Amino acid sequence: MASQSPFPTLPATIAWREDALYLLDQTRLPQESVVERVTTVEEVWRWIHELRVRGAPAIGVAAAYGLCVAMQPARQGTLGEFHAALKQHAAYLDSARPTAVNLSWGLKRLMRVAQRADAADAKALYELLVAEAVQIHEEDQAICAGIGEHGLSLIKPGCGVLTHCNAGALATTGLGTATAPLYMAHQKGIAFRVFADETRPLLQGARLTAYELQQAGLDVTLITDSMAASMMAQGLVNVVIVGTDRVAANGDFANKIGTLSVAIAARYYNIPFYVACPSSTLDLQTASGADIVIEERRDHEVTHLGGRGIAPPAIRVRNPAFDVTPHDLVTGFITERGVVEQPFEKNLAALFAAGGGAS
Ligand code: MRU
Repeated sequence: MASQSPFPTLPATIAWREDALYLLDQTRLPQESVVERVTTVEEVWRWIHELRVRGAPAIGVAAAYGLCVAMQPARQGTLGEFHAALKQHAAYLDSARPTAVNLSWGLKRLMRVAQRADAADAKALYELLVAEAVQIHEEDQAICAGIGEHGLSLIKPGCGVLTHCNAGALATTGLGTATAPLYMAHQKGIAFRVFADETRPLLQGARLTAYELQQAGLDVTLITDSMAASMMAQGLVNVVIVGTDRVAANGDFANKIGTLSVAIAARYYNIPFYVACPSSTLDLQTASGADIVIEERRDHEVTHLGGRGIAPPAIRVRNPAFDVTPHDLVTGFITERGVVEQPFEKNLAALFAAGGGAS
């Protein structure tokens, strides 16, 4: 399995070698690049829950390999025991985070393989699951490349692009989703500037997006979230491209908290707003954004910064990790099959209902 990152200076976010899962700890970037071997299902759950591996596509790939790790002890048992353990471990891993549909999508793909397989024994069934996880991993890389190709024409010479959170290489196993058109434009010698929102509370924009774009030699400027509208007002932003954790059938989508404010500001300033959407993140079973479960995380992430308290003790806090942007603020979805424009309900279904989408 190709486990090399497209960036010589960045280790692969996820690698599977000789039946072992290796993950890059994203909570330690950009100060240190630490890859660890993850050996139990509980560890995989914690890595996903604690955002050590994060970003919707990366979560899907990690969950698929994580389920293989979980099933390793069951290789010695009967097929019946294997199926029972598989169900239990998949449900457990699925509970690690609720919003990114890629988590349940990756797990369901392995469950479907197990249901349909005619394996001679538990060991043979395990090998089929590993093969499916490797396929999910390889598909993710191809999907990122497809998004890059379809989004490339949005990156014009001299333009300013704004992005929020990290929908980059670190959030996937390839070129990223929102970043794929940027990396491809850069490779083609197109000069442009990227504004990366820092993305409070966990600073994925500052720690990860600014880092990976800078490492790859792109012209990137870090701003705080509250500066995005001001950059737009100054005419410095020509297009916004963000990632997503789940796109509902009508085109409403969930992404990192703060995306909604960016979309509203972009509409006010008449700036095109695109969502990079791999088919693994499209959930046609969810009718609208109102049905998307939004993860609420610990108060500590809001009351502390870099380990230091920044708020009065016992203050009441809200910490939704994502928000939902209504589809009418979206110019288009950049998918691996093409750019989907309004009306989204009809056009997303036409492109993905048969043989595609996460559900
Ligand atoms: O909480 P995170 O860091 O997992 O949130 C990530 C995002 O919101 C990304 O924009 C999204 O997963 C798309 S990644 C290609």
